[in-house]
Amino acid sequence: MKIDIGIPEKSTQTIALELNKVLADEILLAAKTRSYHWNVEGGNFMELHKFYDSQYEELNEIIDDVAERIRVIGHYVEGRLAELLQLSNLLETSPSNDGKKQLADLLNSHETIIRNLRKLISVFGDDYKDLGNSDFVTGLMQKHEKMAWFIRAYLY
Ligand SMILES: [Fe+2]
Repeated sequence: MKIDIGIPEKSTQTIALELNKVLADEILLAAKTRSYHWNVEGGNFMELHKFYDSQYEELNEIIDDVAERIRVIGHYVEGRLAELLQLSNLLETSPSNDGKKQLADLLNSHETIIRNLRKLISVFGDDYKDLGNSDFVTGLMQKHEKMAWFIRAYLY
């Protein structure tokens, strides 16, 4: 069904593609976080096991929010894993049981996502006059900034 929310269809198409890329990043990061939750070993096993679980839960909520934003502007959500891998800015990493390596990889992924979201804030707001999605990615960036801070504190 056609929607009339004050943003041209051509713009919502580009915005939806960018949001599908964000979704791909979030799904990849959630998968990494969860595999680290399962595979971590060492003296701080329980601490990291629980920490990864809490970050995974937060990412899971973010994933749903991003997907629903795509539907809100009248487009469909990419749900195929192979397509999502192509869309993502993140790379899959080799499995690791080493907490330090895991945390460094997660931090790198969060920071990649933060830099991308920071760009999208002005792309959506300035280029496409879509202040709703500009605000949405601003909030998302702040969540990742906080998650990245938590991870950085472990790596000190
Ligand atoms: Fe678990």
